[in-house]
Amino acid sequence: MNAVYELRLVSYAYQSMPALFEIDLRVQAGQRIALLGANGSGKSTLLRLLDGLFFPASGSIMAFGQPLDQAALEHDEAAYAFRRRVGLVFQNSDVQLFNPTVFDELAFGPLQLGWDKPRITAAIEAMLDRFGIGHLRHRSPHRLSGGEKKRVALASVLIIEPEVLLLDEPCSGLDPLSQGNMVSFLHTSRERTLITATHDLAIVPDIADYCFVMRQGRLAAQGTPAAILSDRELLRDCHLTWHQQER
Ligand SMILES: Nc1ncnc2c1ncn2[C@@H]1O[C@H](COP(=O)(O)OP(=O)(O)OP(=O)(O)O)[C@@H](O)[C@H]1O
Ligand SMILES: [Mg+2]
Repeated sequence: MNAVYELRLVSYAYQSMPALFEIDLRVQAGQRIALLGANGSGKSTLLRLLDGLFFPASGSIMAFGQPLDQAALEHDEAAYAFRRRVGLVFQNSDVQLFNPTVFDELAFGPLQLGWDKPRITAAIEAMLDRFGIGHLRHRSPHRLSGGEKKRVALASVLIIEPEVLLLDEPCSGLDPLSQGNMVSFLHTSRERTLITATHDLAIVPDIADYCFVMRQGRLAAQGTPAAILSDRELLRDCHLTWHQQER
């Protein structure tokens, strides 16, 4: 199988604040990964590195068999090719959305890729329909509810059909129906590589066939959902289950 990502001893720090420590991992094409971990364990930071927004302080990342580093993304062609293949849906949609209307937000990616007008219009209509956001098309993304923003953000990334979809807490802030729709979308998205950061263990068997578990910036464990979810000690250790504190 082809490796989409290969990380070797990747560490990262925000200024002097260390956030990731010596992460070694591989993601194969077509795998659906759940990235699990408590608040502050490093999930969002790792997704930003996988999206080429941050670069390791030490260690290396290979993406699609090529080094993913600052030097590589300085070349417009390489950056374009990488952005075409990988999409990140941020934990906070306000970071993602910047266009005056929902319609423009969805048009942005295809315009960057130079699609012709009929293709762009057809793709936007399909996305508006798929995510039930057609009624929002003329609205300003910044004035939508949290869940509406999330759906627009996901549609704006998916419209260019990236091979690799990085999702940061895709269900947070969604009502139960939208959450169910999101899980069923992730469940049926078998054609692409998916990496979903979440602390919602209940959805893991539906959205993933493999898990990485983060603890305080380190990769604490990896394995199938069945193996990870049955390891009570690991989950307790990583603050992924609630248990009464001993007094
Ligand atoms: N912009 C930043 N500047 C400094 N430190 C940061 C910044 N963003 C995150 N951190 C720190 O990096 C570590 C990892 O944060 P990260 O956001 O990756 O965690 P997370 O697993 O996504 O958490 P959550 O479940 O709350 O989203 C934390 O200790 C956090 O305080
Ligand atoms: Mg996060």
